[in-house]
Amino acid sequence: MTIQRPKGTQDLLPGTIEQWQYLEDTIRSVCREYGYEEIRTPMFEATELFQRGVGQTTDIVKKEMYTFLDKGNRSMTLRPELTASVCRAYVENKLYGQPQPVKLYYIGPMFRYERPQSGRFRQFHQFGVEVLGADQAIVDAEVISLVWNLYRRLGLVGLEVHVNSVGCPTCRASHREQLQEFLAVRKAELCNDCQERFERNPLRILDCKNPSCQAVTAGAPTTKDTLCADCSTHFARVLDILGRAGVVYRVNPRLVRGLDYYTKTAFEVMVEEIGAQSAICGGGRYDKLVEEIGGPPTAGIGFAMGIERVLAALQVQDKLPKKEPKLFAMLIALGEKAQTEGFALLNALRSQGLPAGMDLLGRSLKNQLKSADRQGARYALILGEEELARNVLVIKDLSLGEQREVPLTDAVEEINKNYQRGV
Ligand code: HAM
Repeated sequence: MTIQRPKGTQDLLPGTIEQWQYLEDTIRSVCREYGYEEIRTPMFEATELFQRGVGQTTDIVKKEMYTFLDKGNRSMTLRPELTASVCRAYVENKLYGQPQPVKLYYIGPMFRYERPQSGRFRQFHQFGVEVLGADQAIVDAEVISLVWNLYRRLGLVGLEVHVNSVGCPTCRASHREQLQEFLAVRKAELCNDCQERFERNPLRILDCKNPSCQAVTAGAPTTKDTLCADCSTHFARVLDILGRAGVVYRVNPRLVRGLDYYTKTAFEVMVEEIGAQSAICGGGRYDKLVEEIGGPPTAGIGFAMGIERVLAALQVQDKLPKKEPKLFAMLIALGEKAQTEGFALLNALRSQGLPAGMDLLGRSLKNQLKSADRQGARYALILGEEELARNVLVIKDLSLGEQREVPLTDAVEEINKNYQRGV
């Protein structure tokens, strides 16, 4: 049997990769406009980082991590997300000693052992940002508005931005108590996972997709009902700034994130059109995480969006750019001598940044012309024995069907002139 790629992974081939590059380029320009700088961290980290950072009771840590022992018997994990890694890098590289806040972004693969389905992969890609060292509500608004403006730049419509506040450890403790009290009488109706969550992490029960759990939790106290004065003021301020900035959002008191580190603001962006896996972005504040992994007390906030899901939304809404032609000029050299001379000409064109190609299979004139057309070349540069003897090159405009001869010595300049003018 032939070897196939692992389940839940993808090969990104030419034809598709251009869409990724377009999205990545747009992301990078928006990040530049907002003053975020790129960070790259390792693909794998000490397992303990995610256990402590993401949380022992989360699905990610309990069920979805690619964990292995390396040859030195150390437990390592392929990164399932990057917030914990970025915080580790912030502490390890003493970025807290630099002017604050530190505003970072990343684009790269993440790994989760999930059940693959449309929009859900085992190796998927995230674009994310993390802002460390600033606890003001204006930062929450900046991060959410970055997401909003990126989607607008991409032309996406029909997005729903859900926002909530999950409070701080103080108000969460009182929510936990109220929630357990509310759920206790109907605990037996909860699914097995939620029965387990009841003691360890009851907040996650609010997020269970199981219909019987949803019936039990209808009307349950939400985090928003129990916010302390500080969290409540912070949340009101975030909403106020967002509204003034024209970001359309919906307060969703039942929004619960699947990772344990969140405090105060939490948010998600949904697009219904892409199916069951409709969350294209999720994030929030995590003011205790840096401390949790051994750093100084540092506020943090960020988000990550699934690149595959954003691309799916762009596809459904027909917002992906049209495919660009691969080549501007195609050299058609007939005979060995013309090939050698033509190759030198091609080198000169390419070194000036002009996308140009030539036949590498010794095909006939007719087939070379066909291939030039297939690759979307605007010009065919024809060089046969006869042209070579007269020191000329035939430049054929493939879209107009016209052709002219130029002296070989002027050829690079002539073609480049057309390229610069875009004709
Ligand atoms: P998350 O909600 O686990 O948050 O993931 C963020 C986004 O990644 C999701 O909204 C989704 O678009 C995409 N995603 C997650 N899992 C998959 C998958 N298996 N296949 C395809 N796409 C997926 C985080 O990862 C946090 N680190 C976000 C964050 C950053 N919070 C603060 N800073």
